[in-house]
Amino acid sequence: MKTANTEVSESHPPARENMHKMPGHWLLAKMGKRVLRPGGLELTRTMLERLDVRPDDAVVEFAPGMGVTARMTLERRPASYVAVERDEAAAEKVRGYLHGPTRRCQIGDAGETGLPDQCATVVYGEAMLTMQGPQQKLGIAREAFRLLKPGGRYGIHELAFTPNDLSADIQENIGREMSRSIHVGARPLTASDWRALLVEAGFRVQYESGAPMHLLRLGRLIRDEGFFRTLRFIGNIILSSDARRRVLSMRGVFRRHRRNLSAIMLVAMKP
Ligand SMILES: C[S@@+](CC[C@H](N)C(=O)[O-])C[C@H]1O[C@@H](n2cnc3c(N)ncnc32)[C@H](O)[C@@H]1O
Repeated sequence: MKTANTEVSESHPPARENMHKMPGHWLLAKMGKRVLRPGGLELTRTMLERLDVRPDDAVVEFAPGMGVTARMTLERRPASYVAVERDEAAAEKVRGYLHGPTRRCQIGDAGETGLPDQCATVVYGEAMLTMQGPQQKLGIAREAFRLLKPGGRYGIHELAFTPNDLSADIQENIGREMSRSIHVGARPLTASDWRALLVEAGFRVQYESGAPMHLLRLGRLIRDEGFFRTLRFIGNIILSSDARRRVLSMRGVFRRHRRNLSAIMLVAMKP
């Protein structure tokens, strides 16, 4: 795929605005990164274990992005899988992994999916609530609640502020700095506020787990992407000065605030 400054070796969500303005997650995807959630694959695996997806489950995934978790879920052979992704290029990529009438990816807003009430037994979404405002966060959690049958499970994997009593001023400053760097509204919550959000939507929280926010650390890159993909990712960044500036800026923000940022995974049940 040709861009202004570099040729990237793999096709990713194509034809977007230039590197200066592109949302951070699409910039990383364009450089070859597939795992775009803060706790990496390890926290995703924990989430899927806790969600306990089985062959009789009807699964809805919000915001599958590059389809990495979709593939892990499909290995568990659920009865059905529906993804709701608002980005057309990402949805197209995910569709490449979906075969048969019971697997599909629709373009749309996770807050208003148009899917029927109680059509799912498992709903999950990763790295997608953090970028929503307070009302949209609640709207999406309520949509998950509406879609689930009683006893159904909802999993989230997001960015959290830490500790729980971190002052509102500091939260706002870090959020503003992150948003400037990644060019997407970044609004993490503390762990207790994430739990409160799910409770407000009607859920009972059952599991909580965390991981350091190491999205752009070398060790995590290798664990998430594998050695050769990491080399290619780094090579792509070296070749593009615009991408390099942006990635270093994002990495700098995450590093500067590492004591106040972490990844969180919650699994909740619809009573
Ligand atoms: C940071 S990426 C995470 C992708 C993937 N879940 C992962 O963890 O690798 C955010 C994704 O959320 C999608 N997204 C954001 N808001 C959404 C919404 N309201 N409805 C559906 N998709 C949304 C974006 O298009 C993008 O694919």
